[in-house]
Amino acid sequence: MRTAITDLFGIEHPIVQGGMHYVGFAELAAAVSNAGGLGIITGLTQRTPENLAKEVARCHDMTDKPFGVNLTFLPTFDAPPYPEYIAAIREGGIKIVETAGRSPEQYMPALKAAGIKVIHKCTSVRHSLKAEQIGCDAVSVDGFECGGHPGEDDMPNMILLPRAAEELKIPFVASGGMADARSLVAALALGASGINMGTRFIATKEAPVHDNVKKALVAASELDTRIVMRALRNTERVLKNAGVERLMEIEREKGPKLVIADILDEVAGVYPKVMINGDMDAGAWSCGMVVGLINDVPTVKELIDRIMTDAESIIRQRLTGFLDAPQQEPLRAAS
Ligand SMILES: Cc1cc2nc3c(=O)[nH]c(=O)nc-3n(C[C@H](O)[C@H](O)[C@H](O)COP(=O)(O)O)c2cc1C
Repeated sequence: MRTAITDLFGIEHPIVQGGMHYVGFAELAAAVSNAGGLGIITGLTQRTPENLAKEVARCHDMTDKPFGVNLTFLPTFDAPPYPEYIAAIREGGIKIVETAGRSPEQYMPALKAAGIKVIHKCTSVRHSLKAEQIGCDAVSVDGFECGGHPGEDDMPNMILLPRAAEELKIPFVASGGMADARSLVAALALGASGINMGTRFIATKEAPVHDNVKKALVAASELDTRIVMRALRNTERVLKNAGVERLMEIEREKGPKLVIADILDEVAGVYPKVMINGDMDAGAWSCGMVVGLINDVPTVKELIDRIMTDAESIIRQRLTGFLDAPQQEPLRAAS
């Protein structure tokens, strides 16, 4: 399949793996890129720019295909040294960066000077237009269904994607709620040039996370995510667990007076506990509603091949079938 996104990134299939804290290591990024998609290493999971340089080198050892690095500009207590991270990305020969969170405007000159293509993840049409205006090459349009930070507009992809298609000139991928061939075909129909998946890629053999995480994803339904941190305007969609129940209890008690210090135990340092130790009740970790569509743990290649093969049959058989079917006699009102 050829789209504006496969052309832009030089990849075979229009499938991107979004950056994921403590999941987007070289193993997963290389597996996605080797299977013809675009794998992405999560920059800030590497605690220093030196560690990121090593992770990028490790990924180059595992794949000759293009892969990218995610740089997340979220409100944090001490801002990470972004210019040094960008230097590590540039020196590692990376040509694709996924930015997320705040606008990457300040860093665009450095990224562009290094010949890097930037895909910015946005949760609204206005932020997507801003990304286009500051020179991003593409956007990842992230609906309210998504795992992670859906923003504050609560706009689901059924509306957000066609609205983005109406306004944007640069290509975009649909992000949030994408799991299979049905998602890909629907995203293409709504105007996207591909899909970005997060949660679905965690339940794969190569995702370097504890088995308990994959089992929890297979067991969970679409009803099992929760929205937290709304009062802080840092809304996050997470998988419900005992830590999240505690967090929500504190949120109910504090109401609009909530400050981050009230919930630090439930949100800080949770990812290594969950992803490495498999402690599923440690606290809040991102997970999309798409978890309801995850029923197995395939290899990344099996997953991507399945999406592409099934997408072709949906387009060629189911969709063209509607057009080719003989017209029915119109129903007449009984007289
Ligand atoms: C466990 C997890 C961690 C994530 N960490 C990040 C991150 O550090 N930076 C980022 O930009 N997005 C992060 N995301 C968001 C994903 O890149 C992607 O946009 C999102 O998962 C798409 O929605 P989906 O889960 O429905 O596929 C994370 C998502 C998950 C599930």
